[in-house]
Amino acid sequence: MDLNITVLPGDGIGPEVTAEAVKVICFVAEKFDHQLRIRELAFGGTALDRFGEPLPEATLSACLSSRAVLLGAVGGPKYDKVARGHKPEDGLLALRKALGGYANLRPVKVFDELVGASPLKPETVRGCDFIIVRELLGGLYYGTPRGQEGSAGSPWRAYNTMSYTVDEIERIARVAFDLARKRRRKLTSVDKANVLETSELWRSVVNRVSHDYPQVELEHVLVDSCAMQLIQNPRRFDVILTENLFGDILSDEASVLAGSIGMLSSASIGGKIGLYEPVHGSAPDIVGSGKANPLGAIESAALAFRYSFGLEQEARLVETGISQALARGIRTADLSAGHYAVTSEIGSAVCDAMAGCHEYT
Ligand code: IPM
Ligand code: MN
Repeated sequence: MDLNITVLPGDGIGPEVTAEAVKVICFVAEKFDHQLRIRELAFGGTALDRFGEPLPEATLSACLSSRAVLLGAVGGPKYDKVARGHKPEDGLLALRKALGGYANLRPVKVFDELVGASPLKPETVRGCDFIIVRELLGGLYYGTPRGQEGSAGSPWRAYNTMSYTVDEIERIARVAFDLARKRRRKLTSVDKANVLETSELWRSVVNRVSHDYPQVELEHVLVDSCAMQLIQNPRRFDVILTENLFGDILSDEASVLAGSIGMLSSASIGGKIGLYEPVHGSAPDIVGSGKANPLGAIESAALAFRYSFGLEQEARLVETGISQALARGIRTADLSAGHYAVTSEIGSAVCDAMAGCHEYT
C-alpha cells in the first residue's frame, strides 16, 4: 500500500517524539512491504519563526495531499505575546478544521507494568481501558462571536461562544456509539445539562441516536461528576463521549491513570485526512534532555495505520511492540524514579520488540 504521510514535528519536544514515531513507521512499512512517502514540514511556532505564520500554505497543501498527518506538539512560552489568530495554537485549530476530523479519539489504557507509575492506588487503575471521544471542531474553540472589548491592555469584557448544531452532535455521537458497539457496549455521554443549553441539546440528540444502538447501554454524566469518577472509579468507563473543551480537560486528567500524559495518543477522524497527535504539549522545560516520552506519538502512529490506512495488523504490531518494550523494562524518565532510557532509544526499543513478535493478531 502507498503510505503517504505528512509529518509536522512542531515545537518543543515535538521533533524528538515524532522522530521516534517515524522510526517505528519505517520499520513497519519495510516489514509489510508498503511504499512509504514521508514529507516533513514546518508548523506551529517553528513555522511562525521561519515564515511568519504557524500554518504556511506549503504545509497545509502538503497535508491536504497526503492520507495521514502525524503531528508532534505546538506552542511554548516564547509565543505568549503573539497576537491571537497568529499563535501556534491558532495554526493547530486551522489545521484541524482544514483536515476535517471532527472525532478526536483518545484511548486511555493502563499497562500492567505501569500501574505503579500512577499516583493513584494500583487497585484503582489496574485494568483501566476506555476511550474518550472528544468533539474537535465545535464548541468554545470555534464558536462566534468571540473577542475582547475595551481599551487595549485592559479589556473590560471578553467573551466566547459555546455553540453546537444537531448535525455536529449527531455525527460525533454516531462515532462514539459505533466504537462502543465494538467494545464493551457502554457509552457515557458527558455534559453540563443542568446549566448549559448546548448540553441540553447534546443530551437530547444523543438520546435520539441511541435508539439506533439498542445493544449499547447509554448513561449521561455531568462533567464535574465525571471528573471525580475518573479518579474514584475509572474502570467503570468504556467509551466517554463529550464536547471539545470538556474532552480536552478530561483527557489530561485521565492521563494520570496511565502514569504519564506522555503515554496518551490521539486520532482525529471523520474528515478528509486523519490527524494523529499525542495528547501532551510541547514541554519546553525538558527539550533536549532525553526525558520526553515518545510512546504517545508512537501509539498515534499505530492509530494512523488503523484509521487512515485500515491496516489493523500493522497497528497491532506497533501496539504489541510498545507493550513488549514496557514488559522488557524499558522506561522513559516520566515513568521511572531511577534509571531511564532516553527519548532517542525508545523508537529502537519498540522496533526491537516488534522484530521479536510473531503473534500480534
Ligand atoms: C490538546 C491541546 C490543544 C487543545 C491545544 C494545544 C490547542 O491541549 O490537543 O489537547 O486544546 O486542543
Ligand atoms: Mn489538551
